[in-house]
Amino acid sequence: MNPAGLLFRSSIGRKFLMAATGLILVGFVTGHLVGNLQIFAHPDKINGYAHFLQSLGPALWAVRLGLLACVVLHVWAAVALALENRAARGPEPYGVSTWLDATFASRYMKHTGLVVLAFIVYHLAHFTVGAAQAGSFKSNLPDYSMGGDFHLLGFPLVAKGQTVHDVYSMVFLGFANPVVSLFYIVAVGLLSLHLLHGVDSMFQTFGWRNHRWSCWLRKLVLVYSLAYFLGNVAIPGAILGGVAQPVAGTTAAKKMAVAVTSTSVSQR
Ligand code: HEM
Repeated sequence: MNPAGLLFRSSIGRKFLMAATGLILVGFVTGHLVGNLQIFAHPDKINGYAHFLQSLGPALWAVRLGLLACVVLHVWAAVALALENRAARGPEPYGVSTWLDATFASRYMKHTGLVVLAFIVYHLAHFTVGAAQAGSFKSNLPDYSMGGDFHLLGFPLVAKGQTVHDVYSMVFLGFANPVVSLFYIVAVGLLSLHLLHGVDSMFQTFGWRNHRWSCWLRKLVLVYSLAYFLGNVAIPGAILGGVAQPVAGTTAAKKMAVAVTSTSVSQR
């Protein structure tokens, strides 16, 4: 079998494909979280960062298509391996509950994976194309004028005074809705569970989990998944709970003040 055939047609090849695409997706979600946490800084940060990413044009599309290919291959390999395992195992013998051995995270990989897929579709409709919550989508909000230069790793990327999409206000207004925020919190919780087992399995597939390191790697994966969960929950949680308030003068601050005033007037 040639190398491509080995990758797609053998069990070990599919496991490798699932681990390699998983590693790329873990890299993306971790980087995305770091970028998103800039919501707690001045609006110049997240707006400048988002403008810089959008200005990459064809390079951004290459990354998007690469990520899409990873998602498709990851799901395909998972389904193929599950079908293969079921065929090899045959019908479950009556009364033998093998699933009792598995951890919660590993037992529900299929379910958590499906919710994450549904979340990605909603999330793209919400923040990328504006099909959900269109009223607070960035292209339906007034543009934002950069208060200072935006630098990344010391490089000046977006100049002071440049007008850019107001991603900062879009995120604040989006998460001011309790249903949307709760959906995000549940989805990132399930994604964190998926990562808890997925990253552990990835180490196993790559052969990095030997006797000496096994226990430490497990702890590392646990700490990573917990930190990932808390970092993601912090954004909708802090906005919904009022701990994070939009900077005065931004579109989000104006619209949220109007919403609070009209709620208190209607309650009188
Ligand atoms: C609280 C959590 C999250 C927040 C605040 C958030 C925020 C955002 C925002 C603001 C955008 C649009 C950026 C722009 O307009 O330029 C975006 C795009 C995106 N997000 Fe998230 N995100 C979160 C979680 C996630 C998670 C968990 C995933 C993956 C499982 C994810 C995957 C994506 C993808 C694939 C895009 C599209 C990127 C593109 O347009 O090229 N996000 N996110």
